Amino acid sequence: MYNPPERMPQDIFLIGAGQTRFCEQWDMSLRDLIEASVTAAITDAKLSAIDIDMVIVANMIGDAVADQAHLGALAASLLPHRPPALRVEAACASGSVAVHTACSLLRSGDVGTVLVVGAEKMTDVPNEVVSRALMGASDAEKDAAAGLTFPGIFGLVAQRYQHDYDLTREQLSLVSAQHHQHAVTNPNAQFQKAIPAEMISESPLVADPLRLLDCSPISDGAAACILSVKHRSPFRIAASQLSTDTLSLADRPTLTSFSATKEAAQKAFREADITRDDISHIELHDCFSIAALISLEDLGFAEPGNGISFYEQPDPNLTINQSGGLKACGHPVAATGVKQLIDLRRELRASGEQFGLAHNFGGAGATCCVHLLEHAA
Ligand code: COA
Repeated sequence: MYNPPERMPQDIFLIGAGQTRFCEQWDMSLRDLIEASVTAAITDAKLSAIDIDMVIVANMIGDAVADQAHLGALAASLLPHRPPALRVEAACASGSVAVHTACSLLRSGDVGTVLVVGAEKMTDVPNEVVSRALMGASDAEKDAAAGLTFPGIFGLVAQRYQHDYDLTREQLSLVSAQHHQHAVTNPNAQFQKAIPAEMISESPLVADPLRLLDCSPISDGAAACILSVKHRSPFRIAASQLSTDTLSLADRPTLTSFSATKEAAQKAFREADITRDDISHIELHDCFSIAALISLEDLGFAEPGNGISFYEQPDPNLTINQSGGLKACGHPVAATGVKQLIDLRRELRASGEQFGLAHNFGGAGATCCVHLLEHAA
């Protein structure tokens, strides 16, 4: 294994951010979404566009559903000086992997200020086309070849979890109910209505035991943030960690724990030199309700099988998906990991607390990034 040489730690600041609403954006193309979020981020950072040294675009299925690849150049051409640009793809973790890539480049000293934009246009094609494109995140020779879709994959995970930990249908419904409740006050959320747990339990079955209201929806949207070692702000990236696991579920020793989340979290807490007790806000990857429970356990906030306790008795000192999460905000896949940082910044600003955690994974947890955001109050 490569051990990087000791280097001076460089503080990386989140100096600006902006997003479109996540929802069905019938009147906006992928380019329009990118442009809207980039313009908002530059305005928020109070920078001139020419201060941006590099652009990193996160996108998963632009080629398959919007006939548009080569998004680095597309985004760079929205800026007057067309800086160097590239595209990052890591399924639903594309956004956070783009942030991680930006952090690595900033630490290298090659660039001083990086614009990261995550964007996805998913609603212009029938759901079966999107589902097929999303299955590109799975193992094509094993999981996809067995006829699985992502609701199917997480349905299997949920069945095993219910078997191992006796989780009831009523308990599982508390997860989406809480995330929908949080989104009521989020103007950028796709669904801004409270949905009671009983309605979740009775929504149409998608992949047993998962129902419609256990699933994140299909969404359009973009989110952008500007990270810098040159310009300061009260928001610092305290840790940026990336881990991977086997692509196929079939190659894993367990279905009810994702090792990439565990590993990324351990590395992130080590990097920031803080503990879980220091975290006041979590934005986690609830692509399906069951994923929220497993993620809380893998991140080290609950014992295996006990993630539901955060939904049965919410912790007054720790908010979970206060934005509404993927479930209620929507999940334009590559935009989600960038949007989570924007949510954390808003939450830390409002609470005056010091640390927030963003957790974003791709596929069935085969790629995972954990970011810790520090607020200098
Ligand atoms: N949550 C809440 N409401 C939803 C919803 C969701 N996930 N998905 C759809 N709806 C609503 C729609 O707004 C629509 O309401 P309306 O009739 O009032 O307009 C209604 O439910 C039916 O929507 P429709 O688009 O016809 O649903 P669908 O059956 O085609 O798709 C899913 C539902 C769950 C299959 C689809 O959202 C899906 O595949 N989600 C998972 C996406 C995914 O895998 N992402 C990657 C994660 S790793």
